[in-house]
Parts: sequence; structure tokens; C-alpha cells
Amino acid sequence: MIFEDGDWAMKTAGVIAGQIKQTLLTKQHCSVFLTGGLGAARVYAFLRVELETCIGSIHFFLGDERCVPENHADSNYRMILKTLFSEGIGKSQKLYKMYDETHTPEVAAGIYESILPLVPDLIILGLGDDGHIASLFPGQSWIEENSRMVISTVSPFNGQKRVTITKKVIESADKIIVLASGKGKSRILAELADNIDIAAIPGRIVINGLWLLDESANQEIIID
Ligand code: 6PG
Repeated sequence: MIFEDGDWAMKTAGVIAGQIKQTLLTKQHCSVFLTGGLGAARVYAFLRVELETCIGSIHFFLGDERCVPENHADSNYRMILKTLFSEGIGKSQKLYKMYDETHTPEVAAGIYESILPLVPDLIILGLGDDGHIASLFPGQSWIEENSRMVISTVSPFNGQKRVTITKKVIESADKIIVLASGKGKSRILAELADNIDIAAIPGRIVINGLWLLDESANQEIIID
């Protein structure tokens, strides 16, 4: 789906809320995996309002996290608290932190793995300019990991340690939504449409997900 640049964040929040509400029509609670990133931060501000009318229990997980202190500017947990939960976490909502400094990334990954739902109802991912999703970066051996559900990886941009869900979890989800906004995504989207190698472009893993793009991102290809 393509939205006008100015409407993308609000319209995307509406689609996500619709998916959550649809799940809650048939289930007691809904599990939602949240992505990090600047695009997601814009969406979550609108999603917070959309979920005010949502009846049912929602358990929120992180798809990936940077291994930094909770109050660090890079923390996805901090970003989510400041956007989606800027008015606090609702009594029928729960947010599961992925990393804190009391554990190493590897230990944190093992702990998080033990609390994940077998079948996530909805996983929200953001496409990186290099084609990464979550913290699964191009050219890294972790892409093919298919026994572990949560692992630690390293960002090739700054060597920052990460904790991330794996392809195994992503492929187990009932629904997947992928966010891509801004002209910086147009080149990788054009490559992703033609390149089936998930090691080169991990975003290819979710080619069959629901892609929510803005017009700037969609410049070089047409994803309808
Ligand atoms: C992270 C994110 C990452 C993000 C993409 C897109 O922790 O960095 O989970 O996968 O979603 O890099 O981010 P932007 O929206 O900032 O381009």
C-alpha cells in the first residue's frame, strides 16, 4: 500500500490498529512485535491514539534492540515508551523489554527467547536503507539461523551490539507489516523487487508481508 508522504504515518497507524482489532475479535489477547527506527517512531505517535479505542489485551514485544542503557538515545525501548506509551502503558497492555545492562546480549537473547509466543499475531518491521530488517543485516551468517528465535548480532554501521528476533520468528508470524518511508528507501526497494537473495537483502524474507510505503519510497518501483 502506498500513502502520500504527509499521510503515511497516520494511515500506517490506522492499518496496524485495524490488524490488531481484527485479531482481538477472535482472540483474548494479541501479541505485537514492534520495530525500531525513525519511521516507526512517527507511526507510534498515531498508533497510541488509534489503540485508545481498542478493547482487549495486547502484549508488545520488541523485534530488536540496541545494547545500550535504557535512557540512551539509541534505545528502541526508550523510543517506544516516548511514542506509543507516552501516556503510560494501559492496564490491558504489557511491554516486554528485550535488553538491559544486567545481562550480556547473548544472555538477554536467551531470556527473551523463553517468553516469546509460539505464533506472533503481528510483527511490524522497518526496512533499513541497506535492506536489513530487525537487526538482521546483509551478508551476516545470522540470516540463515533457523533454530534460535532470538540472537545477538552486531551493526555493521557502528559495531553496536544488538539483540534481534531471527528469520524463524519472523516466518512464524500470523501477519507481517513492513514500513518503508522516505526517498532513501527507493533504491533498496527497487533492488529487493529483483534480488531473491535474503543474505544480500534480508528484507526479502518478508516479501509477502503487507508493505506500507510512502510515495517518496516508492519512486523507483511500483508495489501496489
Ligand atoms: C532498528 C530497527 C531497524 C529499522 C530500520 C528502518 O533498531 O534500527 O529495528 O530495523 O526499522 O533501520 O529504520 P528507519 O525508519 O529509521 O529508516
